[in-house]
Amino acid sequence: MKVEVVSGALGEVKADAVVVGMSADDKKLPAGLAALDRQASGRIAAVLAAEKFQGKPGAVTHLHVADGFGASRIVVTGLGSRTEMAAEMVRRAAAAGVRRARDLGARTVALDVLGDRLPARERAHAAVEGAVLGTYVFDRYKREKSEKAVETLRVVAPDRRQTREVTEGARRGEVFAEGTWLARDLINAPANDVHPTYVAEVARQIAREGKLKIKVLERDECAKLGMGAFLGVAKGSEQPPKFIHLTYTPSGRATKRVAIVGKGITFDSGGLDLKSAEGMARMKNDMSGAAAVLGIMKALPKLGARVEVHGLIAATENMPSGSAIRPGDILRAMNGTTIEIGNTDAEGRLTLADALCYAAKFIEPQEMIDMATLTGACVVALGALCSGLFANDQRLADRLLASARAAGERAWQLPLIDEYKEQFKSDVADLNNTGGRNGGAITAGLFIKEFAGTIPWAHLDIAGPAFIDKDSPLGPKGATGVGVRTLLTYLSDGK
Ligand code: BES
Ligand code: MN
Ligand code: ZN
Repeated sequence: MKVEVVSGALGEVKADAVVVGMSADDKKLPAGLAALDRQASGRIAAVLAAEKFQGKPGAVTHLHVADGFGASRIVVTGLGSRTEMAAEMVRRAAAAGVRRARDLGARTVALDVLGDRLPARERAHAAVEGAVLGTYVFDRYKREKSEKAVETLRVVAPDRRQTREVTEGARRGEVFAEGTWLARDLINAPANDVHPTYVAEVARQIAREGKLKIKVLERDECAKLGMGAFLGVAKGSEQPPKFIHLTYTPSGRATKRVAIVGKGITFDSGGLDLKSAEGMARMKNDMSGAAAVLGIMKALPKLGARVEVHGLIAATENMPSGSAIRPGDILRAMNGTTIEIGNTDAEGRLTLADALCYAAKFIEPQEMIDMATLTGACVVALGALCSGLFANDQRLADRLLASARAAGERAWQLPLIDEYKEQFKSDVADLNNTGGRNGGAITAGLFIKEFAGTIPWAHLDIAGPAFIDKDSPLGPKGATGVGVRTLLTYLSDGK
């Protein structure tokens, strides 16, 4: 979707449809809509009254207008009440409105910078982000592609003086959404195509386009570095593992150095502790953390972020075979820690352990943040729409929670209760990779924390929201690309 910013009256912008917002508190039509209504001789007000349109969130209606308008379809989309989360309401209203315009066959859509509560820049960001995310489709593997698609989005700045703000906001919204699209595509595509080698190829392409540094370590190089935990997981698979290291360096002086790590299990069968058919069905999504890292690394150069960011992915499958690791095996992580395998299905923490060791040794970041579809327990605790946040540093946790909230992605902090460490004590090694059923999301977090050392570290367990089985306001069921917008907000703050 091409995004451009124009200024002028809504009724005059050349487009197939114009999308305009209405808040639930509006007693009369807001200025932009009122002007359109006068132009339409009161037909908009009449339709809204007849349908008892109240501007509720998710409510959309439309009418067709004849000559004298830039657009022949007018879509009105509900913004909800002004007391509700402002930016998220704009995102959702834009998504619903532009989806309606698309379904009416519009290829060029004029979008009002919705609402009036936020600064124009933020409204433009939210509106474009919502429009692009809300029209996501994944039909790469279908013979029949949807014919209806919005090709051009004309964001309408009501006031010429706001054009710059609107342009900047719209661009950011577009870049955030593009990063999220990339993540969604990678996750939705099946594991027979998205194997570690393919993930590395995509990383190389992102590096080329964004002028990032990239290193891809093959199995033997990982072995030389002593990544026994990561390579242990890879042992059961025919697919060669890849350890991917992307680096974004800002043009000016970097404000800080951050490592972001994404769990990259391209398929999680469980290994010899094989999952049930039901448990395995969606496990192509076990690389959602890695996909988020790639979406973020693609976006950072376009945002001109001032933080040096290292993106790390230890990519492998988790498969059962004659060469797979067994329960009771003992692996040695890069920092020398020995790990007894209590369950081969607790593989994510093994790959993350070596990625964190690598970061601590070769990058020495000021902060490390990992994203992982790590535990079913986190889904039980927080449900399908909320990530679990864990951290060894409360300031980092607080800033990430604030970023998640601003981005419209839900995250909730869970405690790292030190006493629970006894749950993954091993009789024969330093640690066991499982900590039993109780507090499973917490014990997994505690396990990873062991490898963060003294570096401020945070962990997002995205097992719930990474992949959903119902359509949502900002996208269809399937991959959501969660994590991309939270971390982009965090890493490009003030930009
Ligand atoms: N990838 C799964 C976690 C998961 C489960 C993600 C459901 C999304 C939805 C992870 O590797 C796993 O299998 N975790 C086990 C850990 C257990 C064996 C300690 C789990 O949560 O059951
Ligand atoms: Mn698993
Ligand atoms: Zn897994």
